[in-house]
Amino acid sequence: MARSAIMNIMVQAAFKAGRALARDFGEVQNLQVSMKGPADYVSQADKKAENIIRRELQYARPSYGFLLEESGEIIGEDKQHRFIIDPLDGTTNFLHGIPHFAVSIGLESQERMAAAVIYNPITDELYTAERGSGAFLNDRRLRVSARRRLEDCVIGTGIPHFGGKNHGSYLVELRNIMAEAAGIRRMGAAALDLAYIAAGRLDGFWEENLKPWDMAAGLLLVREAGGFVTDKTGGQEIFACKNIIAGNEYIHAALMKTLKKPV
Ligand code: IPD
Ligand code: CA
Ligand code: CA
Repeated sequence: MARSAIMNIMVQAAFKAGRALARDFGEVQNLQVSMKGPADYVSQADKKAENIIRRELQYARPSYGFLLEESGEIIGEDKQHRFIIDPLDGTTNFLHGIPHFAVSIGLESQERMAAAVIYNPITDELYTAERGSGAFLNDRRLRVSARRRLEDCVIGTGIPHFGGKNHGSYLVELRNIMAEAAGIRRMGAAALDLAYIAAGRLDGFWEENLKPWDMAAGLLLVREAGGFVTDKTGGQEIFACKNIIAGNEYIHAALMKTLKKPV
């Protein structure tokens, strides 16, 4: 599988940050039992990973802009290109010693996603996609699942929690999907949820109140694996609306319909 020059740079940045996170994750498991707990340590690990990615990418593409979860927006000289980065997606998992988290790096070109890398350093799974060239897990080409009936499907989601919004309306959606799907998973890392859709592991996914860095790389992966991704109205204002529905053509449509069923 031939990768473009920029994709190679994004992959190297994700590997470097991922290796640092994997080392810190080992330490988190020791800190679980300490009185202070690992929270401060995790926030340092998160920032360290972001700095690694930023340094690598800025060195290679000094004129590009950045949208970083920890450091915010950096306007580049080149207004056509922007990296969108979540250095650690699945922080709550990481903090609790649950080995399900990832580095997510997306590249936007003229406001469309052009390249994506999601790397889980624990399973050593590297998801990559470039617009028009397909999606890959390590070097294997990905395709979204072919299931057509919700009753055969496992659907991923994100459950709002303490400090979050829309608990009541989420319960209505959950009840609707519960009644029709084979299973529901809340895995705790939205970037990996989308990568799992691309890999055909999850058949569908929906979540609200996500940030661009949670979704940027993942949505390109899903599209390049033949899937559909929209906001909840069926439109493409995914970053602005902060919500997402993803799946193959049939399951995306089924989710759109089922989520909206009245109480
Ligand atoms: C979170 C994860 C989680 C989703 C949250 C996100 P973080 O990102 O993607 O699955 O439900 O809404 O904020 O904080 O771990 O980078
Ligand atoms: Ca995130
Ligand atoms: Ca994060």
